Amino acid sequence: MKVLVTGGAGYIGSHAVYLLIEKGYDVVIIDNLSKGFESNIHPKAKFYQVDIRNHNEVNKVFESEKDIEVIMHFAGLIVVPESVEKPLEYFDVNTNGVWNLLNIAKNYNVKSFIFSSTAAVYGEPKSIPINEDDEKNPINPYGQSKLSAEYLIQSWAKAFNRQYVIFRYFNVAGAHENGKIGVKGKSLTHLLPLVISSALDLSKTFYIFGNDYETKDGTCIRDFVHVNDLVNAHVLGMEWSLKNNKSDIFNLGTSQGFSVKEVLDKSIETLKININYQIGPRRAGDPGQLFSNNEKATKILHWQPSYSLEEIIKSEYQFRKNNK
Ligand code: UFG
Repeated sequence: MKVLVTGGAGYIGSHAVYLLIEKGYDVVIIDNLSKGFESNIHPKAKFYQVDIRNHNEVNKVFESEKDIEVIMHFAGLIVVPESVEKPLEYFDVNTNGVWNLLNIAKNYNVKSFIFSSTAAVYGEPKSIPINEDDEKNPINPYGQSKLSAEYLIQSWAKAFNRQYVIFRYFNVAGAHENGKIGVKGKSLTHLLPLVISSALDLSKTFYIFGNDYETKDGTCIRDFVHVNDLVNAHVLGMEWSLKNNKSDIFNLGTSQGFSVKEVLDKSIETLKININYQIGPRRAGDPGQLFSNNEKATKILHWQPSYSLEEIIKSEYQFRKNNK
């Protein structure tokens, strides 16, 4: 069976491609390489350098590939503060990009659309842990652009009798054991890659963004899920959707929260390495606590995240050490 993976040269998309190929699926990647890396592309995948918003180019891929049955859509912009500065770009890529894919997919035999959404659709949650049915109230253009895409996908599926699986990610981290794929690039923005960069280079100070939140140690609490566990859920979700002709929305997290300080302390303890850090001011738009209730994915998809925080830290460290 053939799966089209958008963003297959990116961080999460490349992990999905490796797993799909390992499981025997045929994989076609489209990626414009604006954020992705050629070195992430699996040698057995067919690659087209195409922008998801380009109608003619995407259509050509469907024409030449013919029998694409599933789209796994990872391509997108993901940096919250940047989305506040560049809302038009975020809606263009994250919402309009989905619109373009769906508009083309409706003319072909695409049975299911698997979508990377985000916990940012919930905004500042009223209660913790977060359930899929909880209120959606995104507080930045990133979350808004993803929630808009969710609505589009649901309406498309209903109108054209197709299926979808929407995954709302919590904090994805870690890297594949093969050492080839992981978070790459010079401008790191996420917690674990930054903590590990400081562990590898003591001249880099790590800043904790605020220690005056209403949490046990004052720093923000997040739910860290290993990228291999995350992409495994995508394959399970795809297979479930095709087998049962069903659609649904799932949180992908571990249902466990760790504070920023705990992540820092655990990294120092696990890696037996010093990290220079300081307390800085809060970062705008950070909710104090975010962690999932993942019961729905564990029950319906029989998904079980298997990596502990310690293993996530080790895996991130291993990758960063070899890809400095
Ligand atoms: N943090 C620091 N110092 C840093 C970087 C981050 O203290 O140098 C803190 C942040 O303030 C936050 C926590 O670490 O409290 C996690 O921050 P990240 O930037 O790693 O991740 P976010 O929780 O902001 O965002 C993640 C995903 C988004 C998603 C969001 C939903 O990256 O795509 O979770 O909760 F929308």
